Amino acid sequence: MIEQLREAHFPGKLDDEVTVTAVSRQTFYEVTNQLYQHIFTPLGELGLYQDPTPQNSLAKTLAGQIHAEYFVFYTTANEPVGFSMGKVVNGQTFFMEWSGILPAYQRRGLYSRFLDVLIPYLQALGIDRVTSNHMGNNRPVLIAKLKAGFIITGMTLDERHGMLVWLARFLSPERQHGFESAFSLPNFG
Ligand SMILES: CC(C)(COP(=O)(O)OP(=O)(O)OC[C@H]1O[C@@H](n2cnc3c(N)ncnc32)[C@H](O)[C@@H]1OP(=O)(O)O)[C@@H](O)C(=O)NCCC(=O)NCCS
Repeated sequence: MIEQLREAHFPGKLDDEVTVTAVSRQTFYEVTNQLYQHIFTPLGELGLYQDPTPQNSLAKTLAGQIHAEYFVFYTTANEPVGFSMGKVVNGQTFFMEWSGILPAYQRRGLYSRFLDVLIPYLQALGIDRVTSNHMGNNRPVLIAKLKAGFIITGMTLDERHGMLVWLARFLSPERQHGFESAFSLPNFG
């Protein structure tokens, strides 16, 4: 059932050169191992604690059993240039956990277009809200998400990453209306 839904939405064209494909967990981590260092500053260099838990710990195996969706952005030459993954954390919510695009491919609309492809798929799964959290100084992702209709829903202090801003986007008019009416925000658009 889910495979059919996935096939109805992916692969999705992000621009003339790049396509997003749904991949297995194994392929996803092969790609992220290859791309990670070109996109993110290693946590250690930021002065942040580096998780020493071995990849094959029981906890990581159990975490891998939470339903997740894995995507890779490939060029027409089949080179991976970006990735995104997220998890269904409850009956309404998809948590976008980790995304990254190689610097040479940033700022040409790939992430925005990816959200345009991802969200109808999540709606088809019955997801009603999409959440994420980001370091408060990560302007690119915060701006890209705000432009794509996400709103700021909270802020937490996290001992691993410092200040994190929580974002959400509501996928149904009912939930959007419920939010607006709870916070007296009609027509806040
Ligand atoms: C965050 C990220 C995925 C955005 O991907 P992207 O494909 O470059 O984003 P888009 O091109 O769709 O940008 C959409 C809008 O976001 C804003 N934006 C994106 N990058 C920006 C930047 N560096 N500075 C300011 N605004 C930026 C712009 O308003 C942009 O629209 P515009 O180009 O028409 O002005 C990418 O910058 C990235 O991989 N960053 C490093 C990894 C990361 O921080 N991941 C998120 C945390 S998990």
